[in-house]
Parts: sequence; structure tokens; C-alpha cells
Amino acid sequence: MTKVTVVGAGNVGATVANVLAHKDVVNEIVLLDLKGDMAKGKALDTYQQAPIDYYSTRLSGTADYADTAGSDIVVITAGIPRKPGMSRDDLISTNAKIVSSVTASILEHSANPIIIIVSNPLDVMTYAAHTSSGLDKTRVFGMAGILDTARYRAFLSMELGISPKDFQAVLMGGHGDTMVPLPRYTTVSGIPITDMLGADKIDAIVERTKKGGGELVKLMGTSAWYAPGAAAAQMVETIVRDEKRIFPCCVSLDGEYGLNDVYLGVPVVLGKNGIERIIELDLNDDEKSMLHESCEHVQAVMQTYDKIKAS
Ligand code: NAI
Ligand code: 2OP
Repeated sequence: MTKVTVVGAGNVGATVANVLAHKDVVNEIVLLDLKGDMAKGKALDTYQQAPIDYYSTRLSGTADYADTAGSDIVVITAGIPRKPGMSRDDLISTNAKIVSSVTASILEHSANPIIIIVSNPLDVMTYAAHTSSGLDKTRVFGMAGILDTARYRAFLSMELGISPKDFQAVLMGGHGDTMVPLPRYTTVSGIPITDMLGADKIDAIVERTKKGGGELVKLMGTSAWYAPGAAAAQMVETIVRDEKRIFPCCVSLDGEYGLNDVYLGVPVVLGKNGIERIIELDLNDDEKSMLHESCEHVQAVMQTYDKIKAS
């Protein structure tokens, strides 16, 4: 019996619920939003898709946390998305309050859930949720790396005219312009990407990836939801099926990569206990310096959060 709550029934939350229902791996999904009727409507709409697309997952919508009681996994997407001209960091004061209060309300009804944060600024919202929850760091972590890696793989696929299915890659760091895609750990069906593309093309794709979220905000006037929703649903599936897959996730670092007091995307093994292992790669000096720069950026935003919390 697995029960999943998705908080925030907006673009991303509704997509998480819809994609996860299609996977048919959990018994029940509760979609919670301040706008309870909208959550109810989107849950009902997704359940009415079940006879067409063949899944048994039960869905309900609500504004009442009592309905989330006994959740095994919670995905938090509540908060405002950015508009053109805004950075993810501009969302901090509004979303920090939302994410902390959502986390507290969830824990009133579910004792020891695994919590996946999606709200932005992602790394700092993971910090806010983890520290306010009191849960082990293996049970509170953020989704961004799967999305950013997917964008990187999609751009490589477009450049080479090869199926996106065949690209594997590692991307680390914060969910922002300082993220660190790693061409040295990128392959297409086992072939190093550096054998397939020149350095200038790879650099251009790395740069486009770093600004991939902003590209979509410019096009749509709000941030993306299909790939982000699918990424969070993939994390839930991996945990429920105890697959032990490796994904980049945002997690509290305690000495890994020589970093402390920061929440940053690193490759982890995901399974039924949440983050089961952090994988430490042997980065070269350039990669280390990019990761450290990303760390400093996230730590500066964490300090802004600390000040907001203290005021
Ligand atoms: P949206 O505006 O479509 O949906 C947000 C929903 O949260 C709204 O329905 C709103 O009513 C709800 N909400 C606000 N406060 C709430 C509260 N206290 N309790 C319950 N529900 C509440 O926004 P969208 O596009 O779904 O984005 C959600 C968040 O996810 C944003 O912060 C966005 O920046 C972030 N995001 C993160 C990504 C990542 O890779 N980590 C990717 C895409 C979006
Ligand atoms: C994205 O990368 C806005 O974080 C969101 O699409």
C-alpha cells in the first residue's frame, strides 16, 4: 500500500500526479492545494483518464491536510513560479514561508515520510524543508538534477540527431546558472560524447543547459512543467520500486566533495529508504572549481533565507 501526497496542484504538481498515476506503481495519490476545488478537479480529471490509459491508482483532491494522513512520500511543488526577468532566487521570501508551513502541516499527519522538494529556489527550499522537518537528510531532498540532466541530454540528442533514449550524463551543483554539467561523464550508448562532438559544440550545449529553465520562461511566461513533473514522478517511482537507480538529487552535504553546510545536487542512489548513498566522483580541478563556485552561490542564498527566517 503506497500513498503519495503532492502539495501544489498547479502546473508542476498536477503533472506529477498525472505522470505518476500513469506509471501505476502507487495505490493512492492525494493532490493538495489551497485551491481545494482545483485540486479536486485535476485529481478527478486524471482518474477519468484511467479507463482510457489503464491504471488503477486512486486519486483525490483536497485542501485539508487530514486527507494526507499516512503518506509514504510527499512531493512539495507549492509556491510561486518565476516570471520573465526573474531568477529562481527572487522567489525565496514567498516560497520559504510556503514550503516551511507545508512541511509542518504534512508532518502533523504523516510520521516519517520521504519528502521531495520541487519549489524554487530548489536548493534553499530543500534546506528550509529539511531543517524545519527534523527528518533524516536521507528522507528530505530536492528534484532538479534529473530535469537539468534531461535538458542537457535532449540538447545533445537534437545536435547529433540520435534518440534521447541513448544519452547518459552526470550534472551536479545548484539548480541555477552555476549548475555543472559534466561532459567527461557524458556518453551516448557508451561512447564518450567528447568522441562525437567538438569542444565548441559541447560548450554551447552546456551553456544552453545552464539557462534551460530561463529559455522556457521566456517562451511561456511561466516556468516549465512537463519535464519537471515527469522528473519528480520518476523519483517517486524509483523509491516505490526500490530500484536503486542513480540520479542527481539535491541533498545536504556533510563533507562529501569536501563541502559542508550546503544543499547541492550530487549523484545519489535512490531506493526505498530515500537517499541510500551519495556517490563521490573523482572530479578534476576544473570540475571541482565549478562545483565549489556553485556551492558558494547556493550558500549565499541560504544566508538570505537565514536572515528572512530570523527577521
Ligand atoms: P503554479 O503556480 O502553477 O502552481 C503552484 C501551486 O501552489 C498553485 O496551485 C498554488 O495555489 C499552490 N500553493 C501556493 N501556496 C500554497 C500553500 N501554502 N499550500 C498549498 N498549495 C499552495 O506553479 P508551478 O509552475 O507548478 O511551479 C511550482 C513551483 O515549482 C515553483 O516554485 C517553481 O519555480 C518550481 N519549479 C521547480 C522546478 C525544479 O526543477 N525544481 C521545475 C519547475 C518548477
Ligand atoms: C526550471 O528549471 C523554473 O526551476 C524551473 O524550469
